[in-house]
Order: sequence, then C-alpha cells, then structure tokens
Amino acid sequence: MVNYELVRNSNWKIKMSASANPKLKVLIVDDESDIREMLSFSVKGAIACDIFTAQNGEEAIKSLKADEIDLIICDYNMPIKNGGDVYKYLLESESNCQYVLCSSEGPEQLPEFSNRSHLIGYLEKPNLIKGLREIIGKFKTTIPGAGEASPSLYIPVPISLLLKLSNIPSDIYIKLTEGRYVKVLNQNQVFDSNDFDKYTKKDVETLYCTSMAVDQVLEKIQAQIIELAKSTSLPVLDMNMKIHGILISTFRVYGLQESFIPFVEAQVKETLKICSKDKIISGLLDKIIKSKDTYIGTHSFMLAAVSVILATKLNWASDGPNTKLVICSLMHDIFLDENATNETKLLCQQMVDDAFKAHPQKAAELVNKITSMPPDTGRIILEQHEIGEEFGIPYGTHINKVSALGSLFSFCHYLVDSILEQHSAGSVNQASLFNKMEEISEKSIQYKKYLNFLKEVQLFN
Ligand SMILES: [Fe+2]
Ligand SMILES: [Fe+2]
Repeated sequence: MVNYELVRNSNWKIKMSASANPKLKVLIVDDESDIREMLSFSVKGAIACDIFTAQNGEEAIKSLKADEIDLIICDYNMPIKNGGDVYKYLLESESNCQYVLCSSEGPEQLPEFSNRSHLIGYLEKPNLIKGLREIIGKFKTTIPGAGEASPSLYIPVPISLLLKLSNIPSDIYIKLTEGRYVKVLNQNQVFDSNDFDKYTKKDVETLYCTSMAVDQVLEKIQAQIIELAKSTSLPVLDMNMKIHGILISTFRVYGLQESFIPFVEAQVKETLKICSKDKIISGLLDKIIKSKDTYIGTHSFMLAAVSVILATKLNWASDGPNTKLVICSLMHDIFLDENATNETKLLCQQMVDDAFKAHPQKAAELVNKITSMPPDTGRIILEQHEIGEEFGIPYGTHINKVSALGSLFSFCHYLVDSILEQHSAGSVNQASLFNKMEEISEKSIQYKKYLNFLKEVQLFN
C-alpha cells in the first residue's frame, strides 16, 4: 500500500470551508459484488458517510456526474471502462473527488496515473483491508469535520457476506423497526444457508455488528473471499471463456449490436459466479452451455442478453434484477425436451403436449428448492409463458397480472423467439419484428412500454 500526498487545489479548499453538511459520499467501484460489499462494510466501519456503488467504469462516471462524490475506491480491471478511464474523467472534470486505486498493478505501471493530483492511495489486490484502513485514516485528516464512525454504532453487514464465514467472529444484531438492535447470533455461531434463507424470506438483506467488531469480521471475510477465489477460479475461468465465445457468436449470427457484449458478458459472469457455488445449478448451467447450438441453448443466452439490455434501458439495472433475469434465462427451459423448437410458435399453434405444459413448473420448483437463489426467480420462471388466456401456460394468466420482472421476461422471451423465427426464414428484419411485437403489445400496457424502450435501445446493427 502506498500513500500519495493529497493535493489541495483552490476548489477543494472552498468546498471544505463552505461545507455545512460533513456527511461524506464515498463511491465503491468493482465488478465483483463480494468486493464491493466488503469494501462498503469496511468504509462504513471507519467513517461516517453515504456509500454509493458501481460495477464498472461507465457506471462510476455516471455516478460521479450525478453526485458530488468525495472519495472513490476503484478497481482497475473492469468491463465497460476501466479504473484508468474513471481517473482520466476525474482529471478532466472539475471534480475534487479523491481516488484510491485497487489493482494487482501499481500506478507506476499504469500510464493513466502519471498525474497523481487526485490519487491518494493504492491498494494491492487481493489484500485490500489493511491498506484501506490507513488510507481512510489519512483521508479523514484532510477533511475538517469528517465524522468518525461512532464506537457504539451498529454497522450493516450484508447476509451474503456472513454466509461466506464458517462461523461468525462477533455477535450479530438485527435492527427492529423502532430502531433498536437485538442480538440474533452469538460470536462463533454458524451462519449457514438455512439462516440465509430464513432472513431473505423476511426480506432482511442486512444484519449488523458493532463498529468495534468490524475489523475482526472483515479479516475473516477477506480471508474467505481470497480462499474461495482460489478454489473456484479454474472452473469459473473455463466457464467464462465459453460464455465469451457463445455471446460473440450469438450476437454475430443474429445481427445484434456487438457493443452490448461487454455489458452482457459482465452480467452473465457475475451470475455464474453466484451459481457456481451450488452443485445442482452449476451442473445445469453446464448442460445449457453444452447445448449452445440447439434451440434451448441459443434462445436461453439470447434471452439473457436481451432481458438485461432492456432492464438497463428501463433503469431497472442493478445487481438484483439483472442477476435474476440471467438466472431465469439460463434455467427456464432446463426441463424442456432437448429437441424442442420455437416455443412461442408451438404455443400459438396450440401444438403443446403435457410435458411442454409442465416444464415451467418443474424448473420453478427446482429453483425454489435452492436456498442460494435470489427470491422471485422461481416465480419469474413460472411466468415465462403466461402471455394471455388464448395460449398462455400453465395458467393462462393475463400478461398484465404477472409480476413486473415476469412480464419483462415473457416480453423478451416472445421477442427472442420472433428473432429466431425470422432468422430461420431468411433474415431478421427490424421493422417487421417491431410490427409483430406491436401486435402482442396491444394486450398489455407493460408490453407497450417495453416496446417503446426496445425501439430506443438500438438492439440491432
Ligand atoms: Fe419455456
Ligand atoms: Fe424458453
């Protein structure tokens, strides 16, 4: 870890003296959700601040434009603009934001950092925590009125991080609606997937430890993340290479805009990392990857791509919905006959048998049994073919009555099947595709909204 002298320019001084509200804004940027959560937890334990997060350089720059961020802790290697692009943006803008680089390479090796006016520190991956504490300590001394995290404060710790620990290194609390904290786990108690399931079912995503215990919890979380990365890196790497190839060939064959590939790839990889920890799911993913040249494979990957692109255009983009959409895309047809052809065409022609009618339920039931799956994934999968009473299955529910993500998913499912149908008949024609989507959108206000966004998003070359 290296500290750099903080350069105070005239704007910086003006801002500090004029600051009536000392609550700082800290932006944490990393394409790995574990690292984002760990760094957020660490910063919260060290300084009174509001935390913002971004999963790539582009999102980080958007956040810097939208908010007056005081400190950015930024990974270097990321899809869609890297940490160097973010630093260049800081230098070119009027921003006073200070920058901490997280990378396996130091700023000496990265040409973007030759001007160090905004760089206050470097954290060498993967050991981020100890260095970060020192940098935050130094940062606090440069900001008059920067608030210490109170020793009696309760610091939020995401339950997804607690799940990584074999046992909990400190007492853990839950926050009650009236603002009181009650202990729910004792030090050294095990927090397992049943506990995770219990809290997610109650929509509790965060428990708390005292600020005194943050360092203890952090050391253990970091050790587990490093260990996990070692044990899963090879198969995940192998899977990532395959995903890269599948996305490139899908986008090229069907004429989709290739500039979306890095974003889609990042979303799929992030989801696979979550899924690879569950043996059943990773086995099924392997099956989908192997069937990449069949209807199920092509259609599942294209559905993942189209649904996250559209969700992002709709401003639903965050880790949660995108992860759910990718999981649902890759899992929704795992029980469909492997020789199946275009599902939407079969449904419209009412040529479906009982096995076909049962495939959404079977996939939804399986996903519901897996405790690490995000909530609602089973429901979205169940709703994949609920496109109205004429040919919707299994219940013929009207498309306006399914969940929001379910209706986006079924819209994208219809779209993807229409692309495949046009392609098999010769070539994909955007105007006639939109006409076809307009017909089905007549029945649904939601679908009309998605169609308008689809027209804006420039999905095709
Ligand atoms: Fe299906
Ligand atoms: Fe499908």
